[in-house]
Amino acid sequence: MYDLHSHLLPNIPGDDGARSYDMAYHMARQSLTAGFSHVIATSHFVAGEPFGRREDLQAAARAISKFLLGKGMPLEIIPAHEAYLTPELIDHVKSREVILIGNRYLLLELPMTGWMRETFSLLSDLNAMGVKVIIAHPERCAALQENPDLAVELIDSGAYLQLNLGSLKYTHTSTGKTALKLLKYNMYHFVGTGAHSDQKRSPLVQEELALLKKITSHTYFAQITRENAALAVKGIDFDNSFDESWTSFDREDRAVPFNLRTNIWQRLEAWRFARR
Ligand SMILES: [Fe+2]
Repeated sequence: MYDLHSHLLPNIPGDDGARSYDMAYHMARQSLTAGFSHVIATSHFVAGEPFGRREDLQAAARAISKFLLGKGMPLEIIPAHEAYLTPELIDHVKSREVILIGNRYLLLELPMTGWMRETFSLLSDLNAMGVKVIIAHPERCAALQENPDLAVELIDSGAYLQLNLGSLKYTHTSTGKTALKLLKYNMYHFVGTGAHSDQKRSPLVQEELALLKKITSHTYFAQITRENAALAVKGIDFDNSFDESWTSFDREDRAVPFNLRTNIWQRLEAWRFARR
């Protein structure tokens, strides 16, 4: 499996991930324990602030992979950036300071609160440059929680969506509810841990993966945990469409009988109960 979003590389300027090589090694072992074979190590990039340079991230990723391989634990670590959306970002993508996944896919972070007026025009500028945009954890954005239709607009504008597995831990919150809504219509294309340390927000996401497996089809689970990311790291295009039965979140709330609407929650509760 591929973890498409991790702050595993240590001591990277501008990043708040692993604070030492020891912690990074530990996080890498946790990634293997959770079942990942590949980790896309995505350090923060914010225009105008310090950031990890391509060669430094590559060297750190190589050092950790080599150390683990020496211990018989192969984990492929692929460096990239998680870039925060600002109008200046475009210039940094053009200058190749921002590292794209497979030289083509940009992991993009939207503001957690509020909505940038220029979002769609910036997405269209990036598209015009041949850059494929992956929205990091859209379920955590207040704008999408309030209006999940924005997820459809993002996909229609060419973007892909990445689920933070940790969001499934909090299914009673707006974040968790939004994640389940988007999952219901196969709107995610990738999963990631969003891991920042070996403690809180660690790569140990076995429970979240088990839940994801339970509430998604076998085919879709394979696509978002493995197949799509395998294409992205090679820079290969693939279709970003989602479940065609989707009409609108509003209509769904009005038209779907209550027992069907709550089905996913009942299954979730039953699963939790069975694990006690
Ligand atoms: Fe992140």
